[in-house]
Amino acid sequence: MSTPAAVIVLAAGEGTRMKSATPKVLHRIGGRSLVGHALYAARQAEPQHLAVVVRHQRELVAAHVAECDPGAAIADQDEVKGTGRACECGLDALPADLTGTVLVTMGDVPLLSGETLAELTRHHEQTGAAVTVITAELPDPTGYGRILRDEAGDVVRIMEHKDALAEREAGGPWAHALDVAEINSGIYAFDAALLRRALREVGTDNAQGEKYLTDVLGIARRAGLRVTAHLIDDLWQTEGVNDRVQLARLGAELNRRVIEGHMRAGVTVVDPATTWVDADVSIGQDTVVRPGTQLLGATSVGSDVTVGPDTTLTDVEVGDGASVVRTQGELAVIGAGATVGPFAYLRPGTVLGVEGKIGGFVETKNATIGDHAKVPHLSYVGDATIGEHTNIGAASVFVNYDGVDKHHTTIGSHCRMGSDTMYVAPVTVGDGAGSGAGTVIRRDVPPGAMAINVAPQRNIEGWAVSKRPGTPQAEAAARATAPQTQEGPQA
Ligand code: UD1
Ligand code: CA
Repeated sequence: MSTPAAVIVLAAGEGTRMKSATPKVLHRIGGRSLVGHALYAARQAEPQHLAVVVRHQRELVAAHVAECDPGAAIADQDEVKGTGRACECGLDALPADLTGTVLVTMGDVPLLSGETLAELTRHHEQTGAAVTVITAELPDPTGYGRILRDEAGDVVRIMEHKDALAEREAGGPWAHALDVAEINSGIYAFDAALLRRALREVGTDNAQGEKYLTDVLGIARRAGLRVTAHLIDDLWQTEGVNDRVQLARLGAELNRRVIEGHMRAGVTVVDPATTWVDADVSIGQDTVVRPGTQLLGATSVGSDVTVGPDTTLTDVEVGDGASVVRTQGELAVIGAGATVGPFAYLRPGTVLGVEGKIGGFVETKNATIGDHAKVPHLSYVGDATIGEHTNIGAASVFVNYDGVDKHHTTIGSHCRMGSDTMYVAPVTVGDGAGSGAGTVIRRDVPPGAMAINVAPQRNIEGWAVSKRPGTPQAEAAARATAPQTQEGPQA
């Protein structure tokens, strides 16, 4: 009960005001495309069927819809224009004998919630109306369709802005339509049979020469059926994206809502204004998010974590109690209690174990770093497996690329690897092994061995004075090597 038979999402329009090669409904806020948000809300209403109407850049949009929601049917709109025709094409993609409630939503209204769609469905079924439209009262209703009601408060018809202008000029019975602040959100609940029947009747005799979905309301009224409005206070849920200014505006509001949700669930966000969290991110209780942090994509952060300041994580999993400071990370896993940064760069395939460490100015890629293992300073770790409790000395490079192919380095557990060690892959270092500072490891190191391959040091005495005479270097050397006198400074 109270779940719709179907939702039809209209997404065939062109969106010229975006001035973009990308179709409007594929522009993103909060980590999802606009149509992705519409699909998400539609699914939450638990419809039996879901259809998306496409036309402009059809292949791109259809492929994206299939990715977001594989269960959604793709309906193609033909060359007949207008929201009414779009809806008709959507119906054609659904079973011909469909009965019950059909919701219609827009692909470019991203803040509409599934909860609002559920309320719409309930309201529609309780009033027994043939059509229920979500409306809102706007300070500036310019451009929107106006809601025209009768004395009883039921909806008589919707008049588009351009048609309301014409009506005023002609001095018609609805001459006051332009002054009406209550607007059509473009989101409706229809009785399926009425919708199918009425759309066949809708013509294109209007200011835009289009087949208007809004005409269905007048037709229902004339057939003696009830048409009601579901007025909502939250104007953001009815706002569509037409240009990039609105895209940013709605993106900021979505972010504000997402962050507020996390704060209410027990996450400390020090500065919501400089923190961006995508809609699909999860964050555990008592985690602290410091200023300048972006948590994006499918990132999940555990509880009691410190993230930031100035950290961007995309599709990263962070375990409980970890600390991630001034870090850029993508498609990486950070174990519980691990520490990362400051100034770390975790590229895809990085897996840091429990209580592990990736320190300052360290870049990692496709690297599994074991529990309690550490790469504390100034290193590149690419295509590597490092065992637990192993320490990698400062300024080490995993030399994974021979100019043609990438190769893997494997290091065992409890190793004590020296600073400035180069691991020329493919190479393997056994458990409990070590290396001297400056070692270039080109051959495997057996377990427990100490690898050293630097040449013995030779000091050429007096080199600076004889080879660089007259330079500050030679003078400093001369002062340092001059014989010490017994007397103090002369009077
Ligand atoms: C529509 C409503 C208007 C309402 C407003 C709310 C009509 C006639 N008017 O006007 O009352 O106040 O939305 O935003 O319905 N679309 C298609 N195929 C088309 C045309 C549009 O799929 O041929 C889709 C668009 O992709 C978009 C939605 O329908 O998602 C709305 O289309 P748009 O052209 O923006 O309608 P408005 O003129 O704004
Ligand atoms: Ca619009």
